[in-house]
Order: sequence, then structure tokens, then C-alpha cells
Amino acid sequence: MHDRFETYSEEETRAAGKRLAALLPASALVAFSGDLGSGKTAFIRGMCVHFGCADQVSSPTFALINEYKGTIPVSHCDLYRLSSLHDMRESGLEALFASDGVVLVEWAERAQTLLPLPRYEVAAWHGESPAQRRFEIRLVNDEDNSILFSPEQLIVRQA
Ligand SMILES: Nc1ncnc2c1ncn2[C@@H]1O[C@H](COP(=O)(O)OP(=O)(O)OP(=O)(O)O)[C@@H](O)[C@H]1O
Ligand SMILES: [Mg+2]
Repeated sequence: MHDRFETYSEEETRAAGKRLAALLPASALVAFSGDLGSGKTAFIRGMCVHFGCADQVSSPTFALINEYKGTIPVSHCDLYRLSSLHDMRESGLEALFASDGVVLVEWAERAQTLLPLPRYEVAAWHGESPAQRRFEIRLVNDEDNSILFSPEQLIVRQA
């Protein structure tokens, strides 16, 4: 599985996020999945360094959707607390997913059937040591066709 890459600190995860952000079109939707504490928000904070709004990032635990004013509009939502598709529809997620600007969705696996195509997918896992995380990033064009982002594009490890 060499197309997964590892990070060994929150800073490295942020750096990978910043690099992915620099590769995205201005209307990208990025769907994050993975366990609690696997580094999704840290990755998003790094992306928002690129978009000039890192200081505005907070986990959208109470507000479902946070809107950040960066060099382009950035929406950040977290579906952890939404349990049913009905709740998701009621929350205006479909309109959000279709909106302009960058849309960053944590716990996106909970809204799998609502996610638009094309989309980017970032999957995050805990690693073998406390500060190790694993990531895999794809551009999904349709359900049968996705392109993996190679680690070299996304990570520069400090010597
Ligand atoms: N390599 C790493 N990358 C990212 N975070 C790390 C790493 N090592 C340790 N951490 C710590 O793990 C935690 C990751 O938290 P973060 O909020 O980014 O996860 P999350 O996936 O968004 O969690 P949640 O599912 O609760 O939203 C932070 O406390 C961070 O400092
Ligand atoms: Mg989070």
C-alpha cells in the first residue's frame, strides 16, 4: 500500500494539507473519513494555511457548518453528530455541497450517498505509534474511477 503515506506529527499533517490545498481547483469538495482523532481537522487546518484562514478553523462541533473568509470562501462541516440522511437533508447539506468555494467535510462517510462527483477523498487512520497517522488521498471522478495522489506530491519530511 505504498500510495498511503504516513505523518509523524501534527505539523507534518498540516504540511501535507497545505500542499494538497495548493493543488485543488477553487470549487473542490474534499470528503474526509477516518477514526476519531485521526488528524482530519489538523489536515484541514493545514489546508486553511494555504487559503489564508487557518486562524479561523475550529472543530464545528456545535455549529454544523463553519464559513471561513480566506483568499477564497472555505466551508468546513462535520457530520459526526448527524445520524440520519433525513437530518442531513434538513441541514441544507446538498446546497452546501453544490456551493461555490472549497467545501471540507469531516465524517463524510456518513453522507456517502449525498456526496457530489467529482470530489477529493482523504482517508485518515491511526498508525502504530501515538503520533503516527496514515493518509490516502484520491480524486474520485465517478464511482469506478479514482486517481491516487502520490506521497511525493503531498509530503516533504524534514531531515
Ligand atoms: N501525525 C499527526 N497528525 C495529526 N494529528 C496528530 C498527529 N500526531 C498526534 N496528533 C494529535 O492527534 C489529534 C488529532 O486531532 P484532530 O482534531 O485533527 O483529529 P480529527 O480526525 O479531526 O478528530 P475528530 O474525529 O474528533 O474530528 C491532535 O490532538 C493532534 O495533536
Ligand atoms: Mg475533527
